[in-house]
Amino acid sequence: MGGGAFLVARSVRGIEDVVAAEIGRRGVGEVVATGHREVRFRARRAADVAGLATADDVFVLVADVDGIGRSRAGLARLAAAVAASDLDAGLAVRAECGGPPGTTVEVSASFLGRRSFTRFDVEDAVGAALAARLRLAYHSRRDGRRPPEGGVSWRVTLVDDRASVAVRVGARPLHRRAWKVASVPGTLHPPLAAAMVALAGVGPGDVVLDPCCGAGTVAVEAARAGAVALGADLDPVAVAASARNGRGSAVRWLRADAGALPVAAGSVRRVLLNPPWGRRVEPAGMLARRPDQLGREVRRVLAPGGSAVALVPDGAGVAGLRVERRVPVALAGSRLAILVLG
Ligand SMILES: C[S@@+](CC[C@H](N)C(=O)[O-])C[C@H]1O[C@@H](n2cnc3c(N)ncnc32)[C@H](O)[C@@H]1O
Repeated sequence: MGGGAFLVARSVRGIEDVVAAEIGRRGVGEVVATGHREVRFRARRAADVAGLATADDVFVLVADVDGIGRSRAGLARLAAAVAASDLDAGLAVRAECGGPPGTTVEVSASFLGRRSFTRFDVEDAVGAALAARLRLAYHSRRDGRRPPEGGVSWRVTLVDDRASVAVRVGARPLHRRAWKVASVPGTLHPPLAAAMVALAGVGPGDVVLDPCCGAGTVAVEAARAGAVALGADLDPVAVAASARNGRGSAVRWLRADAGALPVAAGSVRRVLLNPPWGRRVEPAGMLARRPDQLGREVRRVLAPGGSAVALVPDGAGVAGLRVERRVPVALAGSRLAILVLG
């Protein structure tokens, strides 16, 4: 594909290695660098890029521009570099990844540290240069307006003196799942659920249980990895949301208390757990009275050689289960951890 083009997968902080492992395991590409919330790779199978489950989004890298500095002179330098770069090559790789042709240009910029320009100044400088080269209309976000649907999204990231300019492979971010049509309070970001599935080593045909399934994010992601999944929740509203999200997936839903599961002992290979931890969702039923019952039930239903993976606030555990691996993650200001439990 496209002359050895580099792609950048963006990720939740803490699961960059999980994203890199998925890129390698699925033969999607060859990882060349892993950094803060991103994994750079060379694609091997462009058509499979959009199927990466643990990445928030994927972009084709079009230009790396040095010498941007902190003054406004950097904006002109950046715009000139964008105008001179091989945009067609980047867009050709995007098309190989399945990205549809766009009718407009939109740009989103971010940077660290103080500068004498704003992110909107960066977006407008790059957007104008792209629009002129591509002969498309540019939609600024400066006034808080949302760009229209159907645009090609470009991203500019400034770190120290260097700007990276990249184009999104798809029409929308990868973390936005078409199947997720229903939600509940405390529902999980799908790539984080996919990271739990990956860290649990879920494979085709594995029987997987999520005993506090909420809107079913973890169970649906497990089913998409080939598992035969079961999602349970005490709240009937959550079970109904799960059923809507899981339409067409290999998941069975039931209303049950995670402290007394109607599941046979030793019948589950992997338990995936995103328990209520009293911030956005309170434990109910038996978990409110006897929280230690959760770990007991998980141990009871696990088959010999089975294991559990839990997403919990950093520092917490699941009573009665030993932590074999801890992956700290940061999401929307919360410090969490994915625990692989024995
Ligand atoms: C953090 S939310 C799970 C969110 C879910 N992972 C998602 O993506 O939507 C925790 C869930 O635990 C459920 N819950 C609370 N007490 C329960 C109990 N005793 N048994 C089963 N589920 C319970 C809540 O109804 C809530 O849906």
